[in-house]
Amino acid sequence: MEKIKIALGADHAGYVYKAKFIEYLSQNGYECVNVGTDTADSVDYPVYAEKVCALVSSGECKFGVLICGTGIGMSMAANKHHGIRAALCGDVESSRLTRLHNDANVLCLGARIISYDDALEILNTFLSTSFMGEHHVRRVKMLDDLI
Ligand code: RB5
Repeated sequence: MEKIKIALGADHAGYVYKAKFIEYLSQNGYECVNVGTDTADSVDYPVYAEKVCALVSSGECKFGVLICGTGIGMSMAANKHHGIRAALCGDVESSRLTRLHNDANVLCLGARIISYDDALEILNTFLSTSFMGEHHVRRVKMLDDLI
């Protein structure tokens, strides 16, 4: 069976979580595409948001994961890309509901806000929850029509 491909990007505040996610996801049957950054040198988060969003909106990757200090900058940048529905999640229930209702395709996380263990639980919930469709299809289409 073909592996689900996930694009991961981070700035200097999020690269440590990203590295740990890549190790975890690779060991758990996912294929990871790492767009960087991979060091503590200061970089600009919109650059990495754009790289991940391009991979998701082209269909090359099913999901994207973006990590910065708060997750806010990454989510602002990601949601400016057509076809991207990025959700900043700080808890498991938001992660579950954004997949169920918004069909979110990019998960944003704040490495300076939540622990790695919480981030991993949020990621696992995001990846294991399916869009419920029904009346939410119309709303998701309205979102995609905005840009
Ligand atoms: C970088 O210092 C920080 O501004 C960035 O990681 C993020 O939190 C922006 O939203």
